[in-house]
Amino acid sequence: SSPYPAIALPRLIAHRGLSARAPENTLAAVRAAHEAGCQWVELDVQLLGDGTPVIWHDATLSRCSDGKGRLATLDLAAARRLDVGGWFGDAFRGERMATLNDMLELLDRLDMGVNMELKVERNRSGTELAEVVVPRLLEALPPERMVVSSFDPLALRQARAIADASLLPIGLLAESVPQKWQHPCEALEAFSIHTDWTRLTARRAGEIKAAGYRLLCYTPNDPAAFATRWAWGVDSAISDDPTLFAAIAPPPTV
Ligand code: G3P
Ligand code: MG
Repeated sequence: SSPYPAIALPRLIAHRGLSARAPENTLAAVRAAHEAGCQWVELDVQLLGDGTPVIWHDATLSRCSDGKGRLATLDLAAARRLDVGGWFGDAFRGERMATLNDMLELLDRLDMGVNMELKVERNRSGTELAEVVVPRLLEALPPERMVVSSFDPLALRQARAIADASLLPIGLLAESVPQKWQHPCEALEAFSIHTDWTRLTARRAGEIKAAGYRLLCYTPNDPAAFATRWAWGVDSAISDDPTLFAAIAPPPTV
């Protein structure tokens, strides 16, 4: 039986916010997700050079801002000077990088849930990231409205050391589900497994659901191609554009 609170995880979660329609991982992308009817978003969090947690996916700045170089070399003042919207479209010019605090305020105001991914880039510490981020999440959101995930085992281990399963739902991220997936899930008291939808097998999906874990898939953007995965027992899809699924997704889970 699950030690977790009953989380009403929606079938569709907006990946990096509504990243098909707004610059990923920004406040604008979360507002867009909310306006499109999404209740939950997936976001990436990492630390600036001065230790400030910010919502950002890449190790570098060039793809999603007018800056260049590495995120980890910036302090907050320098990060705030970047334009993180213009690369996506003129309508978003002037958008500023969101700190974790900015984002948590918005999520709270919009009454939204979040899958916060602890994004550990090479040579960075997952332990440190979890130590900074997890206490903030615990202060800001109830356990029913968050899942913390990571590809980084140390980040997850530290997250679990900070809070037990009744307070902090943890999702194990894996590009493909390892053969011995049960071991890390049990060690972490995981709530969920999150995996690349193109690499999931029906058999693995069946095992995961039979063991009582939630199963999430990233990043399907073609509802017809994804349809069989609902039948395999996938609980939620983390999509760049959940609105595409409106006609095809099964009804919300309890
Ligand atoms: O959390 C699911 C997905 O976001 C993991 O991959 O690279 O999009 O952060 P990525
Ligand atoms: Mg992510």
